[in-house]
Order: sequence, then structure tokens, then C-alpha cells
Amino acid sequence: MEGTEFPGGKKAIYPGSFDPITNGHVDIIQRGKKIFDKIIVGVLDNPKKIPLFTAEERVELIRKTFEGDERVEVKTFSGLLVDFARQNQANVVIRGLRAISDFEYEFQMALMNRKLASEIETLFMMPSLKYSFLSSNLVKEVFQLGGCVKDLVPPVVEEALKEKLKKK
Ligand code: PNS
Repeated sequence: MEGTEFPGGKKAIYPGSFDPITNGHVDIIQRGKKIFDKIIVGVLDNPKKIPLFTAEERVELIRKTFEGDERVEVKTFSGLLVDFARQNQANVVIRGLRAISDFEYEFQMALMNRKLASEIETLFMMPSLKYSFLSSNLVKEVFQLGGCVKDLVPPVVEEALKEKLKKK
């Protein structure tokens, strides 16, 4: 794909809030790596939202999850996603699609991003069926109510959730 090439190969942006990263996100990144040489995970730092984890904490959790994997780079971004993609010389944005319910919002975003930057393509990927019900919000809710999230998030995230809850 033209424009996805960089000296080390092809790259794509995987943007999101990642508050926190779940095994569903990890699954999408692993699938993305089958197609691209480098995945740049873009963590949205949105001053209008109050996340559970700060942008720096979210970045750190993703970095720790992919420690030693040079093909996964993690950065924060604010402002338009298409600007972040351009700054990183990437013209593919990966988004995970879990169910039909995701489709409408994703379709709107993809077409708006195309309107803003016609050279950028959105690539939808489906996670493993076992993660198709999973979301960061549900993980937080289940954890805060005492449920087990062991199989749903990387171990570093489970630890970080425990720490957060202690401080509250
Ligand atoms: O994980 P999320 O919260 O579903 O990710 C949403 C995200 C970060 C991809 C989206 O909110 C985004 O791209 N925000 C950046 C602002 C922007 O570019 N808005 C116009 C997109 S249509």
C-alpha cells in the first residue's frame, strides 16, 4: 500500500483511549502485526474526559505489555487522529470491530477521517470471538464491583487496577 512504507517496512496507526488496554486490544495489535511491520499505538489524551488512568499510565501499561517488541511503538496524541497519522507518516488506521453495534460509530469516524484526509485508509479487524464482548469500560466496572478480570486484561493491567482501587 503506497504511503505505508517506511525504511523498516509498512506501518499502521492503532488509535484509542485504552483506559486500560484489554486482551481484545492486544489481540488486534497481534493481528495487525501479521500485515504491518510496525504498529504505532496512539493513546488519545482527551482533556474533556476524566479517565481512570492518566495518558502516561495508559502508555506505560501498553509499553509493559509489549516490552521487548520493537514492532509496537506507543505514543500519546491529542487533536485530530488524521494529523497524528500524518505526523507519523502512516496512512493506515486500524480499528477493531467487535459487533454490529460498533459499526455505525466506526463507519462515521472512518468516513469523517477520509473526508479530512483522503490518503488515509481505515482498516477494520475483528478480534477473536472470545473478546467480542470485551470493552475497557466493562473491565473497569467488573473490577470495581469485585469481579475477576484475569483473562480479560494483561497481568500488568490487573495489577494496576488493584493499585488504583487501593488508592480510592
Ligand atoms: O477507543 P476509542 O475511545 O473508541 O477511540 C476513539 C478514537 C481515539 C479513535 C477517536 O475518538 C479519535 O480518533 N479521536 C481523535 C479526535 C478526532 O480525530 N476526531 C475526529 C474523528 S472522526
